[in-house]
Amino acid sequence: MKGKLKLLLVFPEVAPFAKTGDLGEVGGTFPKALKELGHDVRVIMPQYRVINERKYILRDVIRLQNIDVSLGKESVKINVKSAFLPNSKVQVYFIDYKPFFFRQGLYSDPKTGKDYPDNDKRFALFARGVLETLVKLQWQPDVIHCHDWQSALVPFFLKTLNKNDPFFAKTFSLFTIHDFSSQGDFDSDCVSSLGLNNNFVFEGSSIDFHGRCNFLKAGIISADVVNTVSEKYAEEVQSAHDYGFGMEEILRERGNSFYSVINGIDYKEWNPAADSLIPGKYDVNDISGKKKNKYTLLEKYRLPFSEKVPVVVMILPSVDQKGIDLVKNALDAMMRLNIYFIVLGKDRELNYKFFDKIKKKYKNKLETDPDFDNSLAHLVTAGADIILMPSKVEPCGLTQLCALRYGTVPLVRLTGGLADTVKPFDPETEKGTGFAFNNLNIKELLKTLKQAVKFFQDQKTWAKIMKNGMREDFSWDTSARKYVQLYSKCLAKNK
Ligand code: GLC
Repeated sequence: MKGKLKLLLVFPEVAPFAKTGDLGEVGGTFPKALKELGHDVRVIMPQYRVINERKYILRDVIRLQNIDVSLGKESVKINVKSAFLPNSKVQVYFIDYKPFFFRQGLYSDPKTGKDYPDNDKRFALFARGVLETLVKLQWQPDVIHCHDWQSALVPFFLKTLNKNDPFFAKTFSLFTIHDFSSQGDFDSDCVSSLGLNNNFVFEGSSIDFHGRCNFLKAGIISADVVNTVSEKYAEEVQSAHDYGFGMEEILRERGNSFYSVINGIDYKEWNPAADSLIPGKYDVNDISGKKKNKYTLLEKYRLPFSEKVPVVVMILPSVDQKGIDLVKNALDAMMRLNIYFIVLGKDRELNYKFFDKIKKKYKNKLETDPDFDNSLAHLVTAGADIILMPSKVEPCGLTQLCALRYGTVPLVRLTGGLADTVKPFDPETEKGTGFAFNNLNIKELLKTLKQAVKFFQDQKTWAKIMKNGMREDFSWDTSARKYVQLYSKCLAKNK
């Protein structure tokens, strides 16, 4: 394989510019790790309204003004701006087309919670814009690495509209799926606005999914290599509709060319020994500083500190399927245990309201906080004893990776990335990094939590569990190297 690769990363969201969830975190951290491995890495995303142009110094690029993009009968002109990912030399391009991207939300209207009805056109334009930008730049990446359905039409166009285009003759595509529940599924009419050649036949094509136009499927079939974000999730999405949402068979057909690479976290940002956002610094050799963070966290919520009472934290997710209902149903029994329980974030407002309302009943034991920002994320990760992630589905999960690094013990359901990254503690061998249960039911959740609370009383064993977790490696550096291996698999393909 060539030494230095030219890589274009296509992300629908990139932190800190714009993000709705963990995908944005990946978009903001993974490219930096690849760059540090010495590759030529650039990122491209839509220019949404939320992006603060002045703060991040987005500049016009003379060559990238008024680029014509045809969307069937319509033809529009886009501009492309450029900036750097903060604290890095990774260049980011922003596709600026105001009628499509200058809206309050990224994919849905925050007022109604409903997807924008023209998401097909928006993300078809995005994909076309990505390829046109490369032509204008005269930059030919070795691999275009696309993420989720919003970028799925890039590999699709490379195999249809741009199939015989000599400019892309040596460009391969990798498609990473972070979540199969969101597919970009539209009415078949949408094909007419993709700007395809007249001889394109929809029926039976890669984008035809039971008569509907499905961007995710088009990406899976068209990309040279496809992967998802944990081994267990890769198995799950091939075996059950609850996980694959209809893509099971299509994935099985890809067989052993469907890979998995676990996400990482930025070990510079998430380092308990040098984290400027926490009062007590510590590392695996001396964990005593963690106590100060627990103290500060409890003080913030006016809860009395106790060595014997573990602080259990749960972060409310922005999407369903994370097992929050289970916790709601188990709450009475949970609160009879000797724990503090702090529920953070308000992304799913109904969930937040539930916990906020009921907390009166569990005074001095249960607290909620809707204002969950980055600095609170650091304090909580450092100050909690247990992080609860009872997900029904969890493609990868990043929260548990941060927790492990900070000696905060994850209690998870063994699914997807949680199963791949959290090893249940075994008192016999003293191996393991967390606590885990298999079936989504109250009994198993409670049994596991009780077990964790019991072990917590034995501070020596608990310290062992903490340190086991802190010794794991979930840095982006390691995962980015695995992606480089996938890039070489792409390059080995015949066109
Ligand atoms: C999605 C998944 C989450 C994963 C993230 C980044 O948000 O739900 O599990 O960590 O993508 O891959």
